[in-house]
Amino acid sequence: MIFKIAILISGRGSNMESLLNKSLENKLDIEFIVISDNPNAEGLLIAERMGVRAIVLKESIKGCKLNEENANEIERIIEENNIYLMLLAGFMRIIPNKLIKKYPMKFINIHPSLLPSFKGKEAQKDAFDYGVKVSGCTVHFIDEGIDTGPIIMQRSVDISSASNAEEVKTLILKAEHNLYFEAMRGLLEKNYHIEGRRVIFGG
Ligand code: GRF
Repeated sequence: MIFKIAILISGRGSNMESLLNKSLENKLDIEFIVISDNPNAEGLLIAERMGVRAIVLKESIKGCKLNEENANEIERIIEENNIYLMLLAGFMRIIPNKLIKKYPMKFINIHPSLLPSFKGKEAQKDAFDYGVKVSGCTVHFIDEGIDTGPIIMQRSVDISSASNAEEVKTLILKAEHNLYFEAMRGLLEKNYHIEGRRVIFGG
């Protein structure tokens, strides 16, 4: 069975690149589609170079929320391509509730902290400023809140050696690249179910 997976990006696309490369290296049967809200996302060039189909959302987007037209377009992409998972990788827009309700446990995100600590856009800077010695990254299902959905996998990262927020970003990003692939692979290859907020693999 070939899984169809969409990766949603807005910018650099290093998590996307790592998912694509690791899936190739591990010979996973996945057909990827890249979706970007930003026609100038650097990640689109990577997708092109790697021969992966990419779609730029048509309607212009104002603010951080996708509008009705964007939501309809994403819904069309999911239906027409029979998409199994939607992986957000540096996608800077909030997925409308309508889509989350219609496709529960299909939208997944990676966040650069150990949730529920340091939610939001400045997670690495907030962790640095707070002075924590250990932070990390979290792959989670998207629910109707921001960075609040059930946690799929987490990886801790020792950031005690970092002397600024940029160094924290670099340390965590390296872990993100491994964790996102492991989490995606786990969802494809293992049985899992959800009890309350808890995502339980096996059994
Ligand atoms: C990553 O740190 C991700 O956790 C956050 O945005 C960044 C995206 O980086 N949501 P990239 O586009 O994957 O390089």
